[in-house]
Amino acid sequence: MLTHEFPQDFVWGASTAAYQVEGAWNEDGKGESVWDRFAHTPGRIQNGDTGDVACDHYHRMPQDVQLMKELGLQGYRFSIAWTRILPQGTGQVNQKGLDFYDRLVDELGKAGILANATLNHWDLPQAIEDRGGWPNRDTTDWFADYAKIVFDRLGDRVQMWATHNEPIVISQIGYGLGQFAPGRADASAAYQTGHHLNLAHGKAVQVFRQGGYKGKIGIVLDMHHLIPASDSELDQAACQRALDNSQYYWLSPIFEGHYPQALMNWLGKTAPKIEAGDLKTIHQPLDFLGHNYYYTAKVSHVYDGLLRLRQDIITSPAGGFSLNGWGNYPEGIRMVQKRVSKIIGGIPIYVTENGGTYYEEPDENGYVRDRERLHYLRSHLIELHRGIQEGVNLKGYFIWSLFDNFEWASGYSPRFGIVRVDYKTQKRIPKLTGRWYSQICRTNIVHE
Ligand code: BGC
Repeated sequence: MLTHEFPQDFVWGASTAAYQVEGAWNEDGKGESVWDRFAHTPGRIQNGDTGDVACDHYHRMPQDVQLMKELGLQGYRFSIAWTRILPQGTGQVNQKGLDFYDRLVDELGKAGILANATLNHWDLPQAIEDRGGWPNRDTTDWFADYAKIVFDRLGDRVQMWATHNEPIVISQIGYGLGQFAPGRADASAAYQTGHHLNLAHGKAVQVFRQGGYKGKIGIVLDMHHLIPASDSELDQAACQRALDNSQYYWLSPIFEGHYPQALMNWLGKTAPKIEAGDLKTIHQPLDFLGHNYYYTAKVSHVYDGLLRLRQDIITSPAGGFSLNGWGNYPEGIRMVQKRVSKIIGGIPIYVTENGGTYYEEPDENGYVRDRERLHYLRSHLIELHRGIQEGVNLKGYFIWSLFDNFEWASGYSPRFGIVRVDYKTQKRIPKLTGRWYSQICRTNIVHE
């Protein structure tokens, strides 16, 4: 049997996000977020599901950390709900909200689990959306103020910070297509949001450096592997446009201090307004890059839509598709990391999300034998190990997700967890992949 041994200091963890697991949407002074508003709007979420209760993690947090410890996790990636800290987005601080994350970080510390906190996993305060949301430039300063409050309280114990999770989803799916909160469909607002997310990131990193806090700071980007559908010039240009739009719109300003010029030309009127000095603010040195990877797609030129391109998800021969149509193409994760390594100047990469949703049926004890997910995860870990041997500075892996949880506009039917959550009883039962992953956390070895 082939074995793949990871470096001794490699961190094995799991990820969640506040709105997807916490519940307690209006408790202890929490304000309304755009996701609360969106989920409470009829017709927005499949089956009318909401994150009101979710995994009830807000009330079950100590037991949940205990479960992480039993599984042998070395790191936990979670996000902080801005509306728990500042119910109106700005102004009055809600101590009870800060206390919750304070307790979480302490519990993690006691369990010897590294705390990896994301400041913005999509749940902007509704009060800020009512003042113009991310397209309003003031939001970048409000974000930096919020970040400072959180750094001041948790900065002595959180080891890894990310400013945003997948800014493209907020800008393009939330503001461009309107399929996610806040549900606006406006291309100009989308690209302006994108720029403001970059700017807010830069301002928060400046605040972090000025405060001299202990941990490391980075950003989490979703970067899929994209391949031109053919050798034709049109398809190749479409593929570059797709990469510029979904990846270099963030990578280039953050790591190189400029936007991809070809994309900006293409966008024309919908390109964002950028003020003097913005790029300097965005271009801050970072300590790590978080990489979310789910699939690989072929890109072809088409004749409609702003970007004139189409992406078709593909799988490797032994791959297969998951329930939501994402394919298993493990080599893609390594290809992206090799490409991106060239521009990030050698800083560490962490996989901050990777996983899949499959049809699953618990047995009479609630146990799920999720062999397809196991195949997906194992094949990706093997590729990551290969990448390390080829020189990728990969330092850790956070699986998506620790729990089955609220899968945004798709509600609760897709399950991504390595731990099953029975939403009626809130019972947590590790799946086959949970047990398998636990062995990897303990041994550092993946068997082929
Ligand atoms: C997000 C997660 C989400 C996962 C699966 C990522 O885009 O960061 O919140 O649940 O993908 O769709």
